[in-house]
Amino acid sequence: MSKKYLWLCVSVVGLLWAFEALAGQPVEKNFADNCASCHGADRLGGTGPALLPENLERLRRPEAFKTIAEGRIASQMVGFAAKLAKEDIQALVDLIYQPLPKTPVWGADEIITSHLQHVTEALPDKPVFSADPLNLFVVVEVGDHHATILDGDKFEPIYRFPTRFALHGGPKFSPDGRFVYFASRDGWISKFDIYNLKMVAEVRAGINTRNLAVSGDGNTVLVGNYLPHSLVLLNAEDLTLIKVIPTLGQDGKRSRVSAVYQAEPRGSFVAALKDVKEVWEIPYGDKDFPVRRIAVDNYLDDFFFDQSYRHLISAARDGKKGQVIDLDSGKKVAEIDLPGMPHLGSGITWEYQGHPVMATPNLKEALVSVIDMTTWQTVKQIKTIGPGFFMRSHENTPYAWTDGFSSGNPESRDAMTLIDKRTLEVAHILRPIPGKTAAHVEFTRDGKYALVSVWEMDGALVIYDAATLKEVKRLPMKKPSGKYNVYNKITRSAGTSH
Ligand code: HEC
Repeated sequence: MSKKYLWLCVSVVGLLWAFEALAGQPVEKNFADNCASCHGADRLGGTGPALLPENLERLRRPEAFKTIAEGRIASQMVGFAAKLAKEDIQALVDLIYQPLPKTPVWGADEIITSHLQHVTEALPDKPVFSADPLNLFVVVEVGDHHATILDGDKFEPIYRFPTRFALHGGPKFSPDGRFVYFASRDGWISKFDIYNLKMVAEVRAGINTRNLAVSGDGNTVLVGNYLPHSLVLLNAEDLTLIKVIPTLGQDGKRSRVSAVYQAEPRGSFVAALKDVKEVWEIPYGDKDFPVRRIAVDNYLDDFFFDQSYRHLISAARDGKKGQVIDLDSGKKVAEIDLPGMPHLGSGITWEYQGHPVMATPNLKEALVSVIDMTTWQTVKQIKTIGPGFFMRSHENTPYAWTDGFSSGNPESRDAMTLIDKRTLEVAHILRPIPGKTAAHVEFTRDGKYALVSVWEMDGALVIYDAATLKEVKRLPMKKPSGKYNVYNKITRSAGTSH
């Protein structure tokens, strides 16, 4: 018998055996019997999160295996190790990372049906607490899916409440700072009344969502989705549906949405598409919400605006040159040198030697690029302790703070680099809790204090005097991914992303 023939026999027997093993416990049946009650027969989610490849992007497969085998503490997700064999669990892992056989539909009907009105009566328009309502922080704790409303003067939590699973993209405020809107990974949009500490309404606007924006007049919410390929406009008042705009390029090609923003000085929303080379501008004062398409040279993954919102600065997927687009003319006006992988979504601006400059951390390289926003030339590349994710400052503070969060290196993930905005030199390195990941800074309304996240399950907010750099307080938090100061956000402080 030839070797080849022998191999064939072995393979056939192996395959038959594998089929038999599978036939014993079909994974679909295992899913239907054990998982569907919470995660939905269609995997679109229910009391448990959606289990689709798009939604599981940040969950590594071994972690998914562990979750299914052991469960998650303090949640309804119990472990299945006692009930299912290892191979069955592995088959379930493989299943949930498979796309659905048919693209799931999430259109107007599904959105309307999902709507939940939690509060129907008009609530008082005075805060039920005495803290300064403009110096509050909303702290998102992704560790156990909660948010904390924090008094920004006393640094005392006022209220803590559960959020939807896996909030995404940063909450946004109504222009007066009374309401905060959250988007979750699985498409849930929630409106929370900060004055009354109550959830007002919720709606599921998509299956996998990037982020949301609230119009400058406070009337409309725009949601950008990965799945389905759509933008969703909602009434900011009660989150009822205005309309769904499928994101199709000029040539009819479908696209995911990279991000949505509101450009208040222009009276418009701006949406970047991920799979077609277009940026969309949608004036929110026009009841028809017409789409103005702006053709661009490259796909836009991540972008940034100057303070006037006239210029859009974007990084390209191939990560070499950034482009500057003049939103008035719809034309590219400059290319900028942005090596590595800049995280423009976290860029900030300040005045340096009489010129406005922008600075952005870099996800791949340990540097911060500082760019002159009149000439679009690089002023300096500042070496930091490690590749960063977030960068923040404030008009009243001399330093720009950036983390080493994107560094795989534990030596730098716990450190914050403070750059002196006047000299563009590294002035200080801080380690809030040595050995623990530090990330995301936000300042108080007056810029006097900086709040740093220690991004761990048993993490903390570490609060610094921004002038003396002395720690003033430490508050325990469950993986505090971000904190958002009402005043700095609604006034669009140059030191924070909007
Ligand atoms: C009683 C409800 C319930 C059942 C039954 C259930 N789950 Fe879950 N599952 C949840 C909840 C709730 C979470 C979110 C846990 C948390 O807060 O981290 C979750 C989380 C998960 C996650 C992690 C998702 C992520 O993005 O982090 C996976 C994977 C998962 N479940 C798979 C399964 C599988 C496979 C089954 C069936 C064998 C199953 N679950 C059965 C409720 C359930």
